[in-house]
Amino acid sequence: MTGLAVIILAAGQGKRMKSTLPKVLHRVAGIPMLQYALEAAQRLEPEAIIPVIGHERQQVRDFLATQQHLPLTVVEQPEQRGTGDAIMVTKSALGARIHTILILNGDVPLLTDHTIERMLSLHESEQPSITMLTATMPDPTGYGRVIRSKNDRVSKIVEHADATPEERNVAEINAGTYVATRSFLFQALDDIQPKNAQNEYYLTDAVEIAVAKGKGVAALMVADPAETYGVNKRADLARVEAIMRERIRERVMADGVTLVDPQSTYIDQAVELGQDTVVYPHTILEGATTVGQNCVIRSGVRVTNSVLGSSVTILDSSVISDSRIADKSVVGPFAHLRPGSVLQQRAKVGNFVEMKNTVLGEGSKASHLSYLGDAQIGTRVNIGAGTITCNYDGSTKHKTVIEDDTFVGSNSSFVAPVTIGSGALIAAGSTITKDVPSQDLGIARSKQVNKPARGLKRKRDKA
Ligand code: UD1
Ligand code: CA
Repeated sequence: MTGLAVIILAAGQGKRMKSTLPKVLHRVAGIPMLQYALEAAQRLEPEAIIPVIGHERQQVRDFLATQQHLPLTVVEQPEQRGTGDAIMVTKSALGARIHTILILNGDVPLLTDHTIERMLSLHESEQPSITMLTATMPDPTGYGRVIRSKNDRVSKIVEHADATPEERNVAEINAGTYVATRSFLFQALDDIQPKNAQNEYYLTDAVEIAVAKGKGVAALMVADPAETYGVNKRADLARVEAIMRERIRERVMADGVTLVDPQSTYIDQAVELGQDTVVYPHTILEGATTVGQNCVIRSGVRVTNSVLGSSVTILDSSVISDSRIADKSVVGPFAHLRPGSVLQQRAKVGNFVEMKNTVLGEGSKASHLSYLGDAQIGTRVNIGAGTITCNYDGSTKHKTVIEDDTFVGSNSSFVAPVTIGSGALIAAGSTITKDVPSQDLGIARSKQVNKPARGLKRKRDKA
């Protein structure tokens, strides 16, 4: 939008969170709550997006540095002297083309694009000095109250801390989201004084100034008050989190995904799920995870930052992170895929198998009780039950290479670095310390000795 700048208030301390993490970096459905405001701003294609940071600024800056795709102009508020002061510090950062300013809060993540668009068009059509968003809250405690005159026009906003008992009975609250005309806004800020219970420069005082000296106030009341829920304490965070997760579930179901028990399915904001995938109860899909079509994810599974192809089955109680699983593979139950695990097509990883930084080739199987770390395993390989890669010598990690069509007998260990040639056979119970050439049988275990008549009977005779 031409002439539009979006200012995002994110400098406050968030005292009531009781946290060393800045409030706006607390996560809602897997992403910092500030990101919701940043992305909502970006969808408007404004001339500038201006986050105002202050408290714990370095942590917030580090997060903003990860948002390279956004055209950000970061402004620091040296002292957190209130929301009015926070806007004031952006004054010199605004380019000449800016005539309209949208103000969003870093701590109001549920606000929808639809509501923001309605505010912008109301501002456009009525041309007031400032357009504000309001909601009717069942419990308005803590919010600024919207005070209306007899003719029902907004006359001012009174903060909870400054409100009279009568004003506190007002259920209509200020959402803290505004569209303002640039020239009015900075003139009004010059008039604001920190004469209130919190000794702060209240941005909300601009509303009363607009009524007295400007072109008045337009107010949009949102239908669903949840959109305006601010996060000030941990209980607010939990409430917002629950609503956001519900929205995500509705979205994925609308896209053709079956959630057998939506309430116990936790899906982060950035997760993508393909059509006809079925997710069973008590599952967590988090981070930058992508799941293809026709997958089945059974109960008790957690998948983090991983890419699953199509028709992948993840059986119960498996934990998968930073891994890639190609089409038609099967994992679990009780499998642990740690970072860098790659399963090529139709691979199978079964019960109590742990993998890390390992490629399991197409059609290969590790079905039972194994640890595969720093290994490169080819196609059609069978990894017998209890196979262990001894990848760590106490100081360095070493690689195990197992080429195509190898058959590894049960309870074998590979003392890395070691390479097994294609089509080799490893005898069960072997501790392999040397390379095995292609097509050879590698056997490394002590010979069995049977001692006649020294079995259980002997023990019984002694007793
Ligand atoms: C504010 C509004 C209140 C409204 C509520 C909606 C004021 C005075 N009050 O109250 O009317 O109902 O939001 O959620 O505006 N911030 C800064 N610098 C500061 C102070 C705050 O950047 O010096 C930022 C905070 O990080 C936060 C936002 O501004 O993102 C709002 O500040 P907060 O202290 O949470 O205000 P509320 O008390 O919730
Ligand atoms: Ca707040």
